[in-house]
Amino acid sequence: MNITNSVAWKAIEAHRQSLSPLHLRELFARDPGRVASLSLSFDGILYDFSKQRIDSTSLPLLAGLAREAQLEHWTERMFGGEQINASEGRSVLHVALRRSRSPFPTASLDVMPDVLATRQRMAAFAEGIRSGKALGFTGLPIRSVVNIGIGGSDLGPKMLAYALRSVSQPGLDVHYVSNLDSAQLAPLLQTLDARTTLFLVASKTFTTQETMLNAQTARDWLLAGLGDTAAVSRHFAALTAKPERAVQFGIREEAVFPLWDWVGGRFSLWSAVGLALMIAIGPQAFAELLAGAERMDEHFRSAPYERNLPVVMALIGIWNTNFLGATSNAVLPYNESLKYFPSFLQQLEMESNGKAVGSDGQPLACASNPIVWGELGNNGQHAFFQLLHQGGRLVPCDFIAAVRADYPLPGHQEALLANCFAQSAALAFGKTAAEARSELEGTMSPAALEALLPHKVFPGNQPSSTLLLTRLDPQTLGALIALYEHKVFVQGVIWGLNSFDQWGVELGKAVANSILPAIGNPALAAPLDASTQALLAFTRQHIG
Ligand code: F6P
Repeated sequence: MNITNSVAWKAIEAHRQSLSPLHLRELFARDPGRVASLSLSFDGILYDFSKQRIDSTSLPLLAGLAREAQLEHWTERMFGGEQINASEGRSVLHVALRRSRSPFPTASLDVMPDVLATRQRMAAFAEGIRSGKALGFTGLPIRSVVNIGIGGSDLGPKMLAYALRSVSQPGLDVHYVSNLDSAQLAPLLQTLDARTTLFLVASKTFTTQETMLNAQTARDWLLAGLGDTAAVSRHFAALTAKPERAVQFGIREEAVFPLWDWVGGRFSLWSAVGLALMIAIGPQAFAELLAGAERMDEHFRSAPYERNLPVVMALIGIWNTNFLGATSNAVLPYNESLKYFPSFLQQLEMESNGKAVGSDGQPLACASNPIVWGELGNNGQHAFFQLLHQGGRLVPCDFIAAVRADYPLPGHQEALLANCFAQSAALAFGKTAAEARSELEGTMSPAALEALLPHKVFPGNQPSSTLLLTRLDPQTLGALIALYEHKVFVQGVIWGLNSFDQWGVELGKAVANSILPAIGNPALAAPLDASTQALLAFTRQHIG
């Protein structure tokens, strides 16, 4: 269906027209109950969306979109294990990865025995490393773990490993290598001891160029250090949906941990792909992460739309994108531990919903995912926030903070939170010319004041939401990630696209394969375009 033809869409458009003359200052002044009606809380997460350009009548209208798009039907199809990823003929069952009991999704299609058995094997493996009982080829315990993967096989676990480093086992180093650029792997290898290093090759397909080349290089380095191919079996494990390829690589079967084709790469951190994380934080903390996500799954599946965090978050994103015309969304964590959260969300959102063709193969009638970008908020304040405040562009923001510090130092947390709250308030309410004038009066000549005044005005009306967590523990993080996952799903349903395929990443891979041999062999460059040929010629001249 074309959602822009729906009754709900038209009603929302009329609502937008009536609301658009109102500045956030006026919206706050008009409704003293605004914050109560435009905020939700769930399991230690306060979601304040009162600084969005909506009023108390907006959500019921927006929820009409979810109904017209048959969100409930699609949700039940996903949770029921139907092949809603139609272009790849796959079910979408990452929610199974955080469930604690069989059967799921149905008694006849129960994936839980495999899921639970793999989780148990992972726990035993992780405990072996953590306790020092799992020994390397020379009999020394493993002290360093290197996860080799990219995209969903890197971003989620790496983001969480950094977020949860305060609860990670000291003395056990866990590293993440993704880039083809040897400047990532080579310096790391210089710091490692082959006798005490374990490589986890994380790749759903076990064919990804970056991962396979890094894994091969790591294997060569290991063999150079230990001098025996038998060492591979003690120093490599694989996390993959293609176990036979891992075994062919030389990894012993007991060290191959499966995932399944019903887990999308960007939704795979809950699966065996999370093994490096489990080694770092331990099986108990990993179980708490899953439990937090499972609680969010239940909330998503059962709460009424207007009290449902993922649904509300999705609807607000649609309001900003499709009705206010925002083209990007900034993610601004005021929490050092969430340093990698923006890049994790970039894949989750843009690889899922960065599409202009619907599930039915027809062009979408409206814009889909905005550009997701972001950075640690406190650092961003001193870099790009200028544009958010006075650049004249609409950039909705997600502020994310935790009340309690992971590493408390006197005065830091209060100052950090004050800055977080100050930025969203300043962006929303700005500063009028009259306010700026009264601040400047008496401090300079009237002529100087008039010259400076336009620069001191902040238009405000920049919409934002704040996600305030009690603390960044595994359970709350699990819920936070599941919240964004379901937001992505809801938006995909409303836009009428398939959030679970990623055909757009294929072309670049194929072109790279045709260019690679032409770097060494100029004759192979002939069919390539003129720009690529020139780049190759320059490269050949200087590659050394
Ligand atoms: O190229 C994109 C992609 O397929 C992502 O969807 C995926 O997370 C990543 O590459 C890595 O894939 P794999 O886990 O199969 O190596």
